[in-house]
Amino acid sequence: MSTHIDNNAKFAKTVLMPGDPLRAKYIAENYLVDYKLVTSVRGILGYTGKTKDGKEISVMASGMGVPSIGIYSYELFNEYGVENIIRIGTCGSYQKEVHVGDVIITTSASSNSNYARQFDLKGGVLAPCSDFSLILKAYENSKKLGLNVHVGPIFSSDIFYDEDKEYYKKWQRLGILGVEMESYGLFINAMKLHKKALCILTVSDTFASDERELTQLERQTSLENMFKLALTMAE
Ligand code: HPA
Repeated sequence: MSTHIDNNAKFAKTVLMPGDPLRAKYIAENYLVDYKLVTSVRGILGYTGKTKDGKEISVMASGMGVPSIGIYSYELFNEYGVENIIRIGTCGSYQKEVHVGDVIITTSASSNSNYARQFDLKGGVLAPCSDFSLILKAYENSKKLGLNVHVGPIFSSDIFYDEDKEYYKKWQRLGILGVEMESYGLFINAMKLHKKALCILTVSDTFASDERELTQLERQTSLENMFKLALTMAE
C-alpha cells in the first residue's frame, strides 16, 4: 500500500491540492461540510468531505516542488482511485497584463525539471498539458462566478533562488504567463496514469513590472476567488 499517505484514507474522485498543509486545513474548515482528516503522514494533511452543495471532494497538500507533488499525486491516482487532481497554488507573473491578484487556469507546464527522464524519450521532449475537459469546466465556471481569468502556459521551475537572475526572461519572451514549481510533475503523472489534472493559480508576485504587493486583505480575496473556483470542480 501507499508509502506516504495513510493506508486507511478514503478520497473523493476529485482532489484539490494546495502546496501548504495549512491551506488544505483552511479550505476544509471554511468551505467543506461533513469533512474528516484522512491523512497526516509527514504533516501532509488531507481531508475528505462535501462541498456546501453536497458534492464529494477531498483536499490534500502536495508540499513544494515537482518531486513532492510527484510522490503524492502518483499515490492518489494509483492507489486511492482518484481521477482528477486540481492543483491550487500561487505563482509569479512573467507578463505585464497578468497582474498580482489575478487568477490563471493553466493549459500546459514547461520546466527545467528532469522528471520526464524516466520515459527515456531518446532526445524527444514531452509537452505536459492540463486535461481539456477540466480546463473548459474551470473556464466556464469562472465566467459564472464573474471572475476574469487568464488561460495559458506556465513554467514549473526547479529553482526558486536562481543564480541567474535574468533566466526568467527566456520564458517571458516565449509568452509563458507565470512561474510556480509543481504543475509539470502533476501533469506528467496524470498523462502516465491516464488520469486528469489541472492547475489554478493566484498571482502572488511579479517579474514583469514593479507592481506593489497585495495587502493582506487583497491577497486573501484573490486566494478566496481561486478556492471558490476550484470547489466548483467537484463532481
Ligand atoms: N517562483 C516560483 N514559484 C512561485 C513564485 C515564484 O516567483 N511565486 C509563487 N510561487
